[in-house]
Amino acid sequence: MANPLRDPRDRRLPKVAGPCGIVLFGVTGDLARKKIMPAIYDLANRGFLPPGFALVGFARRQWDNEDFAAEVHDAVREHARTPFHEDVWRQLSEGIRFVEGDLNDPVSYAQLRDVVEELDRLRGTMGNHVFYLSIPPGLFPVVVTHLKESGLSEPAAGEWRRVVVEKPFGHDLTSARDLDHVLESAFRPDEIFRIDHYLGKETVQNILAVRFANTMFEPIWNGNFVDNVQITQAEDIGIGGRAGYYDGIGAARDVIQNHLLQLMALTAMEEPLSFDAQQVRVEKEKVLSAVRLPGDIDLHTARGQYAAGWQGGVPVVGFLEEDGIPATSTTETFAAIRLTLDNRRWAGVPFYLRTGKRLGRRVTEVAVVFKRAPHLPFSDYAVQELSDNALVFRIQPDEGITVRFGSKVPGTPTLEVRDVSMDFQYGDSFVDTSPEAYEKLILDVLLGEPPLFPRSTEVELSWRILDPILDRWAESGRPEQYASGGWGPASAYDMIARDGREWRRP
Ligand code: BG6
Repeated sequence: MANPLRDPRDRRLPKVAGPCGIVLFGVTGDLARKKIMPAIYDLANRGFLPPGFALVGFARRQWDNEDFAAEVHDAVREHARTPFHEDVWRQLSEGIRFVEGDLNDPVSYAQLRDVVEELDRLRGTMGNHVFYLSIPPGLFPVVVTHLKESGLSEPAAGEWRRVVVEKPFGHDLTSARDLDHVLESAFRPDEIFRIDHYLGKETVQNILAVRFANTMFEPIWNGNFVDNVQITQAEDIGIGGRAGYYDGIGAARDVIQNHLLQLMALTAMEEPLSFDAQQVRVEKEKVLSAVRLPGDIDLHTARGQYAAGWQGGVPVVGFLEEDGIPATSTTETFAAIRLTLDNRRWAGVPFYLRTGKRLGRRVTEVAVVFKRAPHLPFSDYAVQELSDNALVFRIQPDEGITVRFGSKVPGTPTLEVRDVSMDFQYGDSFVDTSPEAYEKLILDVLLGEPPLFPRSTEVELSWRILDPILDRWAESGRPEQYASGGWGPASAYDMIARDGREWRRP
């Protein structure tokens, strides 16, 4: 047998990015400080970046290279996952540059080009650069146009250029297409990386591993055995300082269009021929294409806004009283929808998707809830405390998997059965802590590995699902208020109760 360490097909060997650099637009934003810059340090710390790696910040601040390096340093000290090592930082900081520039000014892009070319000479980045647009999507067209006109988007032979965009990928189907046209005017589809950070989470990738590496789940993974699937992304915090981003976007565009529909696609898809980007995308797209929208949107969706109240013993303001939110805002902070899939595997199985801010606690999970056994040879009393079997992917924060099933209560004279659970906890089974989603995704961009990045077709299919719902909501006035710290508006409970079911209490 071939020695796996020498076998080129053994893709477990860690891959280190080749010579390259990242140009970061939006360096002063929350995402850059809390996620992107710390993840770059964590990658350097784990030895995944090339020795001459370069990070160029571009913004309208009066900073020099040292000022920007100090900003990166603070972000790293505060938010990096891995320990701080002076020598790693020194090497990384030697490749840090700053361009004080205006996004609208061609001269700034000429300066950026000079800096990039100098890095190629001094740090050996060899013309391989990522342009990371961590900026509001309204600014994408201007930046992309300038990247093209300045020649920055155009690699010479043997070099590469890539662009990274963060969601929202448009506001609806039409604007998503417009965005694609803008990006594709300067970059080839395989040079465009759309980040949905959920796809970089270990626990999300594990959905495919668990489904397709084992024999025991897949035979029951269909409408013969599954009663319903509940996908929940709940947060206990409000919108914080993000009024400018959030108002007019809302929970459905912010989370359902991307994270939750992706989770649904991974849970429902057929086995791909391989885990190559193309094969996985094809299967996900089939799921999204099979979605049947609720016949009556009012009955099968729900939305709400958090009201003032108490959370964790602290008084909190309602959404409409948040700084920067107009008192007349109709933006939803909670959204729930019921979808079904028109295919043989899932016919008749509802997928309930819900997300919200200021809910009972922070939790994301995918719960596959099974049908009751066709016959229960117990007295009614003996199974009073038996609910439905369930397999729950605990995406976060308590990462793992729970299987819920019935078991005999010890010491009872009859076969009394009660729910128990079997838990897999990452912390118990694996020594290393999981990398942050951004570490995985940024490294994949540098390596040019596309499987975890949605392509334009998936994005468009997701908007096709959401657009009719959002249009209907736009006609139907103010969302219902819900108590902070609870689990959403009454209409969400009514929606699922109409099907004779109830939401899981995560
Ligand atoms: C982001 C949304 O995509 O995901 C935020 O814009 C949300 O509103 C966040 O808070 C949640 O991410 P996570 O990884 O904490 O579940």
